[in-house]
Amino acid sequence: MKIAIVGTGYVGLVTGTCFAEMGTEVYCVDIDQNKIEKLKKGIIPIFEPGLDEMVERNHKAGRLNFTTDLSSVLNDVDIVFSAVGTPPDEDGSADLKYVLDVARTVGQNLNKYMVIVTKSTVPVGTAKLVKKAIQEELDKRGLSDLKFDVASNPEFLKEGAAITDFMQPDRVVVGIESEEAQRLMEKLYKPFTLNNYRIIYTDISSAEMIKYAANAMLATRISFMNDIANMCEIVGADVNMVRKGIGADARIGSKFLYAGCGYGGSCFPKDVKALIHTAKKLGHDMKILEAVEEVNEYQKNVLFEKLMKYYDGNIKGKTIAVWGLAFKPKTDDMREAPSLVIIDRILQAGGKVRAYDPVAMEEAKRHLGDSIIYAKDIYDATLDADAIMMVTEWNEFRLPTWEVIRKTMNKPVVFDGRNIYNKQEMTDSGFDYFGIGIK
Ligand SMILES: NC(=O)c1ccc[n+]([C@@H]2O[C@H](COP(=O)([O-])OP(=O)(O)OC[C@H]3O[C@@H](n4cnc5c(N)ncnc54)[C@H](O)[C@@H]3O)[C@@H](O)[C@H]2O)c1
Repeated sequence: MKIAIVGTGYVGLVTGTCFAEMGTEVYCVDIDQNKIEKLKKGIIPIFEPGLDEMVERNHKAGRLNFTTDLSSVLNDVDIVFSAVGTPPDEDGSADLKYVLDVARTVGQNLNKYMVIVTKSTVPVGTAKLVKKAIQEELDKRGLSDLKFDVASNPEFLKEGAAITDFMQPDRVVVGIESEEAQRLMEKLYKPFTLNNYRIIYTDISSAEMIKYAANAMLATRISFMNDIANMCEIVGADVNMVRKGIGADARIGSKFLYAGCGYGGSCFPKDVKALIHTAKKLGHDMKILEAVEEVNEYQKNVLFEKLMKYYDGNIKGKTIAVWGLAFKPKTDDMREAPSLVIIDRILQAGGKVRAYDPVAMEEAKRHLGDSIIYAKDIYDATLDADAIMMVTEWNEFRLPTWEVIRKTMNKPVVFDGRNIYNKQEMTDSGFDYFGIGIK
């Protein structure tokens, strides 16, 4: 079986590589020439654990190929996946420009039956727009009767654990509207079915909605716990204990209950915004999600506010060590990262930043230029620092040698945005300590 994956970002590259690993012949297509040239040379443009080795192996085996020209491979494949970006427009809606560009290119070059599958996260109704865009191009070419199908196969992988998530999915959702298309999708996903992973077939609108509802639910849990954490501070409760207490209830479960300094990344913020926007356009207010967003914006500022309070509203000339820049561990992705808000507020208030992240330093330079000092490691970041902001909970940050750090700092104080340290232990080590939702 041969497939093409259009868009070779986090999702497209992981999808293409994992299908190739399962024996499918894959063309990964991207308009970014530089990216494709790098991939051909075995240079992986993103950080994703285990991906480089898998790309290399499948590329060498001839199952994973890279090109910038969709038209040259289109009629050689059975299924085309569209995994291009769907960034938020200014009003929060999902920008479908790239998705529709791909649809038009398909329509301009298609010569045989094919299934065009949208893997990008798109609002309900997008499959209809994709179908229309392809049909219009076919009509222009006098090929109105050429049969094709559209489908929706949203992706649920997490950056940092993308390969495991793809290869051992909780579920695969396929939105489909024809038996022929379903047969092809069943064939493609056969290795997964054989391994007993669950494939859920739905109508297309439901598949599109499932992706948004899943991300909205996860974002809701985070904002809910952050709101509870802020309340814990007021009443003198400890959110870590509250988390354990409610997570033990099987109806609630223990995942995604960690309070912190807000969610970021390329998915939750934009998907929550897009769902709110789609609903509004259709005359419905997603009241819960509006609150989820509001809480998250507030939460990204909580660490900074604690810092300001500690220094009586004045951090002019103070050096703040920021530990962790990526929006979460095991990725270099900094899109909508809480670190960006925190750093911006520190700089605006006249403070200086010495920052360190195990993998996102290059990415940070793209976002922050020379506005901050880039440290070699967490110890270097704390040199002469007046505070530590722990923003991303990388494993290597969990057990630092506090005696060394205390001696190099101007003022030993830690603002722990992910609650990874123990207040008593920190106090015993001579630090002032502030977590989120902790007495
Ligand atoms: N990143 C995630 O963790 C994740 C998880 C699940 C779903 N998603 C969704 O998947 C989609 C892709 O996300 P991503 O993070 O992989 O995006 P990305 O920005 O990393 O990659 C998108 C790629 O598409 C390419 N592209 C744009 N237009 C193109 C065209 N006409 N032809 C060929 N290539 C084109 C870009 O050059 C880029 O390399 C989004 O809708 C996102 O919401 C992302």
